[in-house]
Amino acid sequence: MPSDRWRIRRAQLSDLPRLLELDEAAFGLEALSRPQLRHFVQRSPSRLLVAALPGGVVAGMILIGLRRGRPFARIDSIVVGRIHRRRGIARALLHQAIELARQRKLEQIVLEVEPHNRGAIDLYDSEGFGDRLTVADYYGEGRSALRLRLSLSPIRRTRSGAHP
Ligand SMILES: CC(C)(COP(=O)(O)OP(=O)(O)OC[C@H]1O[C@@H](n2cnc3c(N)ncnc32)[C@H](O)[C@@H]1OP(=O)(O)O)[C@@H](O)C(=O)NCCC(=O)NCCS
Repeated sequence: MPSDRWRIRRAQLSDLPRLLELDEAAFGLEALSRPQLRHFVQRSPSRLLVAALPGGVVAGMILIGLRRGRPFARIDSIVVGRIHRRRGIARALLHQAIELARQRKLEQIVLEVEPHNRGAIDLYDSEGFGDRLTVADYYGEGRSALRLRLSLSPIRRTRSGAHP
């Protein structure tokens, strides 16, 4: 997707009001709180990225859960503002997460998604996430999740060092 339509960068403190707005609109009571978001911006090894449109409006965000010594990354949250959807922003954010995990030489990316969230599941399917496992009561009693994984096989290199 053309990068002149948005820029992906690390979240900063000045993004917090907008990130709260995006998260609350998508997840309601289960949204990340301001202290949690602040923690991810300032101190956590996890990576919070935003997609900013020309002019600066933040259209979407992804929270990539990282922990020292853990061989996989988690997609802890991904959200795109309603009016900005279906333009490839979530896919671009996910690509950044995959790239980051590869750079860190992590073995896989794991995420949970609600089984009825067709749009998100279609996105993950199209990016190669599989190995579905149903996790009972993940979102609370009676609310299961699908756990999906993307295995990150090492990028093969030709003798010249270029990617095949
Ligand atoms: C899921 C979400 C992040 C997708 O964001 P987006 O920027 O609209 O996604 P993209 O434009 O990158 O779409 C990529 C692909 O995902 C799939 N997809 C996304 N939204 C879809 C929808 N509503 N219906 C069906 N497929 C959808 C499609 O395969 C799409 O490719 P296409 O547009 O070429 O057909 C967004 O709908 C959202 O924020 N939802 C609320 C929060 C949420 O549910 N997050 C996921 C939690 S696990």
